[in-house]
Amino acid sequence: TRQWRGVIEEYRALLDIPEGTPAVTLREGGTPLVHSEWLSGLTGATVHLKVEGDNPTGSFKDRGMTAAISVAKHEGAQAVVCASTGNTSASMAAYAAKAGLKPLVLVPEGKIAAGKMAQAIMHGAQVIMVRGNFDDCLAMARGLSQAYPVALVNSVNPVRLEGQKTAAFEICDFLGDAPDYHLLPVGNAGNISAYWLGYTQYLELGMATKRPVMRGFQAEGASPLVTGEPFPHPETKATAIRIGNPASWHLAEKAAKESEGRFAAVTDDQILAAQRELAQHDGVFVEPASAAGIAGLLQELAQGESYAGAQVVVTVTGHGLKDTATALEGFGPLVDIVVDADVDDAARAAGLA
Ligand code: F0G
Repeated sequence: TRQWRGVIEEYRALLDIPEGTPAVTLREGGTPLVHSEWLSGLTGATVHLKVEGDNPTGSFKDRGMTAAISVAKHEGAQAVVCASTGNTSASMAAYAAKAGLKPLVLVPEGKIAAGKMAQAIMHGAQVIMVRGNFDDCLAMARGLSQAYPVALVNSVNPVRLEGQKTAAFEICDFLGDAPDYHLLPVGNAGNISAYWLGYTQYLELGMATKRPVMRGFQAEGASPLVTGEPFPHPETKATAIRIGNPASWHLAEKAAKESEGRFAAVTDDQILAAQRELAQHDGVFVEPASAAGIAGLLQELAQGESYAGAQVVVTVTGHGLKDTATALEGFGPLVDIVVDADVDDAARAAGLA
């Protein structure tokens, strides 16, 4: 049987990366499109989850990173830099390790989930904490790459979006066409832009007959694409999308406009409730930011929006194990009932007796 080769080898002819670039790959992509009985039941639509937490480092970032690191290596870079809310840095560190490049990471101090920080450190990154937010870190990463011999691999590097658009290809390949609606979380806005590139390319190639309506969801405290103004002090418990001035602002607006879609905000409470419900109904554990698209779908239903009869895809962007602390905040003592090693004690505690 044939093993999935990673997104560059699976889709090389469709990607705008220099010919002959050897792939630095951890066999990312090929992630499952999981049918959600729960959300299909609530909406009357066919709802699938694109489970991007199943990538090698646990988020969708690996799709763009295989491309960015392959090109950086091919072009002779020796060090790579990124600003990150955690997942990009985890992914960059892993691919840089594989390629033999030195990874340099800039992150907002105190605002990175422990799992992501562990990944960057384990893969050998030099992690620099910045007294500032993601937007400050991105400005610094750009500045460093302009003044010093270090290649920038944030999604302002167009090669990143080339890799990330493969998620749209996979969805079309699996469904046999593009879906009617695509919902996802939005932070720095690279992912929604990349999906739109991918869907557009498949339509132009005749591999799909349509493009989906794109709906992007931001955390209320960091929702510049909803208000139309940058947030100088973004705040949300969904730290992955704690971003006030998205780099791909214009590309994301283009995706929303051309698809007749839109952006909307969801609160942290909605995000955390959606995260728990998804875990308990569908068996899929995602990190808080990754549940923003689910929270958005639930909000739209509550507002009377209809998805009945449609094909709907919701991308869940990263794995729940990245940030167990935030996930468990809402549970309190439920998780530590302690009994003696006795069957009847356990049965009583469990409400069976
Ligand atoms: N979900 C997760 C889990 C993320 O890590 C990110 C972004 C997003 C959604 C938003 O995607 O930025 O393309 O709109 N994380 C970046 C990082 C910023 O540094 O890991 P986007």
